[in-house]
Amino acid sequence: MVEHKAQPGWVAVEEYLSTAVVLPDAALQHAVQSAVDAGMPPIEVAPNAGKLLKMLVQMSGARRVLEIGTLAGFSAIWMAEGLPDDGRLITCEYLPEHAKVARANVDMAGIGHKVDIRIGPALATLAALAEDPAQEQPFDFVFIDADKENDSNYLNWAIRLGRPGTVIVMDNVIWEGAILDTSMDEVNAPGIVGALEMMGKDPRIDATAIQTVGSKGWDGFAIARVV
Ligand code: SAH
Ligand code: DHB
Ligand code: MG
Repeated sequence: MVEHKAQPGWVAVEEYLSTAVVLPDAALQHAVQSAVDAGMPPIEVAPNAGKLLKMLVQMSGARRVLEIGTLAGFSAIWMAEGLPDDGRLITCEYLPEHAKVARANVDMAGIGHKVDIRIGPALATLAALAEDPAQEQPFDFVFIDADKENDSNYLNWAIRLGRPGTVIVMDNVIWEGAILDTSMDEVNAPGIVGALEMMGKDPRIDATAIQTVGSKGWDGFAIARVV
């Protein structure tokens, strides 16, 4: 695992942007604190990235969102806040204790009726979703943010469960630069590189990737569009 190290200036700027521009509501702030209180690692997306997810959900007109990796529900709340009232977000989480905290957080945020938390290994949940006749509609938007080893498997599922125009966002695609030196993290970095290579080569998608700095260190995200 790479150590995510943040420079003080990056954190100060992120805090300024959160306060001046992003304006996370009380429920979002509570979700971050609840994760700390429950002893979860502080690996939720930064507030400015969460707001970007919400705005991408809105701008793409998404009604059905799939998330892989729930943690305490911080990114799920952002995305669900961007959905219409009859929109739906399915989020995959394999730790029941994370799902329990996330359930309380999405309910407290007033968007719980849009959120369905599926407990179990995401690959099993995704295979079940593909077979479920009640899920005949494709997902409009997918956020991939779980075990990086499986990033290319999740990308493949996102494409399969999507349709032309589906937007796919993948977190953590820079990983402190370990994508150029996979000896820094031989578990996760090869998984990320595999997904980035697929983003460039797979004819089913078109993609870009953006590197970021902030409280979560040096990292970034990729955005793909199913063609
Ligand atoms: N998207 C969240 C952060 C997710 S952290 C946010 O920004 O708020 C990654 C989460 O994925 C953790 O809660 C972890 O338990 C979960 N996870 C890891 N591997 C998984 C797997 N194979 N299946 C389902 N969930 C997994
Ligand atoms: C880790 C996972 C994440 O999804 C993230 O955004 C940052 C760190 C991790 O497993 O260390
Ligand atoms: Mg992440």
